Amino acid sequence: MRRIAVVPGSFDPVTLGHLDVIERAAGLFDELHVLVVPNPGKTALLPISRRVELLQKSIRDAGIAGNIVVASWSMGLLVDYCLEVGASVLIKGIRSQVDVAYETPMAIVNRNLAAVETVFLLPDPAHAHVSSSLVRQVAALGGDIAPYVPEAVAEFLQKAPV
Ligand code: PNS
Repeated sequence: MRRIAVVPGSFDPVTLGHLDVIERAAGLFDELHVLVVPNPGKTALLPISRRVELLQKSIRDAGIAGNIVVASWSMGLLVDYCLEVGASVLIKGIRSQVDVAYETPMAIVNRNLAAVETVFLLPDPAHAHVSSSLVRQVAALGGDIAPYVPEAVAEFLQKAPV
């Protein structure tokens, strides 16, 4: 049986912390879907199609594209996508207790909705302070985001400042 997992997120934009979790997850499953999902609770920086493009390029540049599919989903529940592609596991990166508190209710609801289990992965502590919202803020105020994001993202945001 092929073991298929989904890493969902806003990825607005993808950070080095995301990429670290994606690489670890890709090593644990036969097929990994990195899924861009709009989060209505957050003010968006990039359109969904651009986030997908930057994820694809960052994953290719990192040399980990082998078993990874990048897609987006805005047609309903996250677990509907999981059922559609035959994934039984969601992956979430956990940087701190704050992430555990944020992710736990969603994990329980997703299990209740469709028996999809959530696996928490720990990124390298070097990325513990990195978040997309911080990157959005630094970029908006003209600061250097290169230490926090893949090269493709830094290049794109430098060319098209926000
Ligand atoms: O990167 P983010 O913004 O923390 O990602 C949050 C995301 C997209 C994973 C979350 O908003 C989500 O799961 N959205 C899908 C909507 C859904 O299925 N909700 C019901 C179960 S929690």
